[in-house]
Amino acid sequence: MQFKGLTIGIPKEIMHGELRVAATPETVGKMTAAGARVLVEKDAGKGSYFEDDAYRKVGAEIVSDVEELYEAADIILKVKEPLFNSQKNKHEVEMMHAGQTLITFLHPAAPANHEMVQRLAAKGVTSFTLDGIPRISRAQAMDALTSMSTVAGYKSVLMAADMLPKFMPLIGTAVGVIQPAVVLVIGTGVAGLQAVATAKRLGAVVYAVDIRPDAIEQAKSLGAKVVDVGVPPEIAVGEGGYAKSLPEEWLLKEREAISEAVSKADIIILTALIPGKLAPVLITEEMVKSMKPGSVIVDVAIDQGGNCALTAAGERKQVYGVWIDGTKNIPGMVPVSSTWMFAHNIYNYIACLVKEGKVVINMDDAIIASSLVTKDGKLVHTGALEAIKKMGSEVK
Ligand code: NAI
Repeated sequence: MQFKGLTIGIPKEIMHGELRVAATPETVGKMTAAGARVLVEKDAGKGSYFEDDAYRKVGAEIVSDVEELYEAADIILKVKEPLFNSQKNKHEVEMMHAGQTLITFLHPAAPANHEMVQRLAAKGVTSFTLDGIPRISRAQAMDALTSMSTVAGYKSVLMAADMLPKFMPLIGTAVGVIQPAVVLVIGTGVAGLQAVATAKRLGAVVYAVDIRPDAIEQAKSLGAKVVDVGVPPEIAVGEGGYAKSLPEEWLLKEREAISEAVSKADIIILTALIPGKLAPVLITEEMVKSMKPGSVIVDVAIDQGGNCALTAAGERKQVYGVWIDGTKNIPGMVPVSSTWMFAHNIYNYIACLVKEGKVVINMDDAIIASSLVTKDGKLVHTGALEAIKKMGSEVK
């Protein structure tokens, strides 16, 4: 009975428009079968079409007052970082207590979260962030970042197709043939590859851009044509095979290399990211001006600042006749599939963290060590500490 003696709490997400939940009846059933007491906030699963009764059937208790849930739980499982709960007029961190464990996406290096993670530390909460899980094969089943990128890549193409004032596939009609839409995917990591695959399924002609040779090979194998940007691998690829921030001169060359493809595209999906850094700006205002009226940009990279200079976070607007969509939290728009993956990822994570009914922080385990954010009253996440110092602030 791995979870015997532990109380696990699943609050309803409070971020505006967030429909996901951290556990499904299936994963709650696994927790109760392994001895946990599981508290689920009333209607927590509603946005993902899981009714309270489905959780009750697998042994969960439904709790109406979230403060009771926070008070009783040893471990809190969430999708999004703690936020201010306007119904309770309290921050979620305020409802937590010393010795409690929190597992969620904390994005601790992001400036907007610096204050919150320091409050978690001050409260004595032990917190882990799912975006810190390393990309090693043992961690694949816990890698929520990858799962959510898969959803974002897929949905971004559907959003773009919906805005596009023309067909995606080639259509033969009695009055002539309508040519397929041209889709340009910039950044073909997990999200970009899913975007390539989705656009191909919809019948578009797909072009791909990346600076890592591996990513380009993968996009080609999915049927994309490649726009070569000519960045040498030693400049593009850094530690662990991830992309590096390009020096300004190479960024200029890249923009030049993609400018023709940009002007010809009906849809551009932007997913170019550098781990832990602001996203590179690859589409300038001039480049947007060069695009066809009615064409569409979906800037999936917006959570890290975006790849298009004109994207407004959280907004969809038309500029120079081009739709630019800066929707944040795209995975939340496909709540059933994203919750299914997320819930399994987080379940696999706690199954790795809990030994005989106790949270065991084994710093020799790369998965635990790199996802730990606060412990024993201190902020210990390297990326967050560096980011706070870089901003000239003192770590509290
Ligand atoms: P990411 O989300 O950090 O970046 C997305 C893409 O943007 C990357 O392919 C990157 O090369 C590209 N990019 C960065 N700067 C660019 C620029 N200036 N122009 C064009 N493209 C640019 O990457 P993601 O999706 O996290 O995946 C990175 C790699 O990690 C993938 O190739 C994947 O194979 C690997 N991975 C491994 C996993 C595992 O072993 N468990 C799990 C997930 C990913």
